[in-house]
Amino acid sequence: MNKLTLGVTVAATMALFAGAASAESDMMPLSIDGVNIVTRAPAPDFLDIDEVISGWVFRTVETQALQMDDFDNPGMIFVDQAIDDWNTVEGTAGESCASCHTGGPEEFAGLRAELPRWNEEQGSLYTMEDYINLMRVEYMGAEPLKWAKPRMDAMVALLSLQSRGMPVNVAIDGPVAEIWEQGRELYYTRVGQLDMACANCHEDNYGNMIRADLLSQGQVNNFPVYRLKNAKLNSSHARFKGCMSNIRAEPYAVGGEEFRALELYVASRGNGLSVESPSVRN
Ligand code: HEC
Ligand code: HEC
Repeated sequence: MNKLTLGVTVAATMALFAGAASAESDMMPLSIDGVNIVTRAPAPDFLDIDEVISGWVFRTVETQALQMDDFDNPGMIFVDQAIDDWNTVEGTAGESCASCHTGGPEEFAGLRAELPRWNEEQGSLYTMEDYINLMRVEYMGAEPLKWAKPRMDAMVALLSLQSRGMPVNVAIDGPVAEIWEQGRELYYTRVGQLDMACANCHEDNYGNMIRADLLSQGQVNNFPVYRLKNAKLNSSHARFKGCMSNIRAEPYAVGGEEFRALELYVASRGNGLSVESPSVRN
């Protein structure tokens, strides 16, 4: 079932997981408003598993249904709020996003599928949040938005939605190679009082139950995600933070170096899946 080494921790850890009749067998294909979403794809070469699978596959039929129609997807309410934001003039330059990007958010079709990626001009790894704040600070003369807060998550959702259905295609070589390696290391490093790594749950045990929850591969092709649990959009860094807290580890900073590296690495594990943002999960 998993590749844990022997010891006391193993017994404790094994007790956490239970085999499950996974939801995978009676699964229907995911299509949203006529756009087909790839929820299973051959795994990238660097992985030991054969297949990468969207978290959607592991949810209940009821939760799955909420993502199949934008009228039922509560995440779309926040996308509407971001459209208002897109058109709002703010900052010392007297500009809105709309005043420069006259083609609308549609201009960014394909962008989300490649993020995070290297920004040559800025000389750093760029997430969607980074682009939004670059625009606000440099082009609008406005305050940067706080990561993992409603306004930021909504704007990330609006821009990500433009790539829905497109295959995730995150580069892992060239200038990001070292950061990717750091992310991989973090993914396999055991932390916290439960002494567990991301991989122990999301690679070794997907399809198994942990307490009352069916474990997925912990993909991020679907972020931001509307969670029924907290009734709002959640960023990938907020999710990483939650998973680290659950294993009683001190989470890294949202927007910080470690979570950026982890986002790059986890995003690349989903290469070949479709962008699903904004998705719905429990
Ligand atoms: C004053 C004009 C101006 C305003 C206002 C502006 N942008 Fe931009 N935006 C640009 C220019 C020029 C570029 C390309 C150069 C760059 O990436 O720095 C760009 C690039 C981008 C990119 C990266 C696109 C890519 O494919 O690399 C995103 C995303 C983006 N803008 C989103 C926004 C959002 C969201 C807002 C509002 C918060 C906004 N922009 C406001 C001019 C503007
Ligand atoms: C003790 C087990 C456990 C560990 C360790 C763990 N997670 Fe999770 N994670 C969960 C559970 C349970 C869920 C909710 C069900 C699911 O989607 O798997 C979840 C969900 C997620 C999701 C949301 C997936 C989606 O479809 O929306 C992501 C992303 C994620 N985890 C990433 C991570 C990362 C990165 C790490 C390491 C820092 C990590 N997790 C460590 C248990 C764990």
